[in-house]
Amino acid sequence: MFFKYLLFFLLLSRFSASQQEDVGFTYNGFKGVNMSLDGLAQITDNGILLMANTTKREVAHAFYPHLVSFINSSSGNVLSFSTTFVFAMSSELPTLGGPGIVFVISPSRRFPGALPSSYLGLFNTTNIGNSSNHVVGVELDTLQNTEFNDIPDNHVGIDINDLKSVKAARASYFSDQENRRVNLNLISGHPMQLWVEYSGSKKQLNVTLAPTNVPKPTIPLLSLKINLSRFMVDPMFVGFSSSTSSLAVSYFVLGWSFKIKGKAKELSLSQLPKLPRMGPKPKPKIFTIGFPVIGASLVLILIFIIQFIVGRKKKFAEVLEDWELEYGPQRFRYKDLYIATKGFNDKELLGIGGFGKVYKGILPTSKEVAVKRVSHDSRQGVREFIAEIASIGKLRHRNIVTLLGYCRRKEELLLVYDFMPNGSLDKFLFDQSTTKAKLSWKQRFQIIKGVASALLYLHEEWEQVVVHRDVKSSNVMLDKELNGKLGDFGLARLYDRGEDPKSTHVVGTFGYLAPELSRTGKVSPTMDVFAFGVFLLEMACGRRPIEPRASEECIVLVDWVISSWNSGTILDTVDPKLEMNYEVEEMELVLKLGLLCSQSIPTARPCMRQVVRYLEGEVPQPKLPSLRRSVSAPSEGPYLLGNSSSPSSIANSVLSGGR
Ligand SMILES: *[C@@H]1O[C@H](CO)[C@@H](O)[C@H](O)[C@H]1NC(C)=O
Ligand SMILES: *[C@@H]1O[C@H](CO)[C@@H](O)[C@H](O)[C@H]1NC(C)=O
Ligand SMILES: *[C@@H]1O[C@H](CO)[C@@H](O)[C@H](O)[C@H]1NC(C)=O
Ligand SMILES: *[C@@H]1O[C@H](CO)[C@@H](O)[C@H](O)[C@H]1NC(C)=O
Repeated sequence: MFFKYLLFFLLLSRFSASQQEDVGFTYNGFKGVNMSLDGLAQITDNGILLMANTTKREVAHAFYPHLVSFINSSSGNVLSFSTTFVFAMSSELPTLGGPGIVFVISPSRRFPGALPSSYLGLFNTTNIGNSSNHVVGVELDTLQNTEFNDIPDNHVGIDINDLKSVKAARASYFSDQENRRVNLNLISGHPMQLWVEYSGSKKQLNVTLAPTNVPKPTIPLLSLKINLSRFMVDPMFVGFSSSTSSLAVSYFVLGWSFKIKGKAKELSLSQLPKLPRMGPKPKPKIFTIGFPVIGASLVLILIFIIQFIVGRKKKFAEVLEDWELEYGPQRFRYKDLYIATKGFNDKELLGIGGFGKVYKGILPTSKEVAVKRVSHDSRQGVREFIAEIASIGKLRHRNIVTLLGYCRRKEELLLVYDFMPNGSLDKFLFDQSTTKAKLSWKQRFQIIKGVASALLYLHEEWEQVVVHRDVKSSNVMLDKELNGKLGDFGLARLYDRGEDPKSTHVVGTFGYLAPELSRTGKVSPTMDVFAFGVFLLEMACGRRPIEPRASEECIVLVDWVISSWNSGTILDTVDPKLEMNYEVEEMELVLKLGLLCSQSIPTARPCMRQVVRYLEGEVPQPKLPSLRRSVSAPSEGPYLLGNSSSPSSIANSVLSGGR
């Protein structure tokens, strides 16, 4: 009976011993696997053994839950064993990892008082290095710890009872294909495989590393002759330990195979769980695509808006200087004028004068205006010019186009006038499309009287003497009732009464320029009288002061009228379009007055007050002497231009040069 029991006991113990010796397992992923986990260690839903995924300084332990016997009970020597596992490590920093993972054989799977960080959750300051630890490990270290004589980070080392590796090497593998060592970065986040193999007979520990896409290298990374029997006890636990420092790291073990006595079964890589996205935390598409796109769009929109505002500001930029402030009420905002003229639309163009385009505009108050754009290159004289404009703006006469105000931009001046629905007089007077007069003599005479009274006002009745300097039919505007209004003071220059007239360069319109102007350059009201004389002849004869297409005798209007006067046929010059419908007395007066005013000697011309008296019939008609043709008196100079000696040359310069 006793023997029976003994036999049974022996059998049992032998059975259990053989059970322990034969320990072997293969986990292609840890789903459903009974692991002894501790600290940070956890098995994820898809079967990854997660050793660390934190920035906390903590430890993690994951052990096979059962004890494993490593020692041959009869010889006392450590049996051969072999293990392999697939791992992956990543870090928030591309070159700096945490402490890493250790494959551990240890008498206990609990490590009370063990420190995290570089102590790898295995030791503390008091027990590190003690032979009583009986810990054998292989570390995958990505952190260089000078205290443990680590070779630079990113190494694999064999540790016994201590973290000062017995042997270590930079992470690499021997590529059989390329016949050379290839370096590896342990924290690349790419899965790698480690083999740890101990031969009990050769007392040799081999450690081999390789990326998972490479077959197991024939030459191990570390090969150490060591009698592990001196360090190990029986039985022991096998598993993994890791710890974290303050770096954000993730350590994964994807599969593990272990075998006592013999070769561990190879892992089936295709069955291993898939790694989660490595490196920077996977962000929702909204971050990787959405936000950049939205951001870029916002930036573009912002740039667009800024450009729009800047462009708008530039578009509507005005020049306003301190000295202009006194003219405040007469200043218009460019923006208002821009809107009024529909952006200076060509459809609103009323005409193109010598100094700029004139546009029709409608102010916000629904008042109709004419806006003249005058370009000015230099800042020189602008101040005086504005001063003139400002004072002209104060001119109020029923036969003067009211200047409502101005606006100044960098190289542009905008003058705002009352809108004249019927446009300029010359269009009526010289209309080629009809043989019938568009303006009756009555209307013409009315216009003449109006312009005369306007000039009288400018010359004598206002607080300053104003010389218009550009009296001509195209500068006389017609209002709704066809009243003539003198307009376009763009060239007018003012000078105070009593002061010497200022010298200035010749401005005005060819054909209306008093001859003395080209000699003296002096501006005086008599030059307006001269131009008014030419204007009178225009009104009576219905033709321009210079008509290049006419016969040589008639090219220059004044000369033609003079010669007709001398030959006693002055009424032959009357506008045929009037079809004899005129008051002969008025007509003779206008023609004679025209000749009187356009005499080349300034002092021989009447003043505007006299002219008005004649026109109003307050004084009898002037007596005209026999007049010389102006061009036939070279000593006086031709009445038009300095040295032109014949009408044809004048005509030529009209044809070739224009205004
Ligand atoms: C896991 O193993 C431990 C130790 O042997 C045991 O106590 C526990 O019941 C096992 N758990 C499962 C789910 O098998
Ligand atoms: C790691 O930790 C983060 C934050 O706690 C968590 O969102 C993520 O799912 C974890 N990764 C894994 C593989 O468990
Ligand atoms: C160090 O570790 C040992 C074994 O785990 C433990 O008994 C001891 O109390 C620890 N010492 C300290 C200071 O934590
Ligand atoms: C290995 O170590 C054990 C225990 O120290 C010893 O009994 C054995 O003889 C050693 N084997 C060799 C080959 O040195």
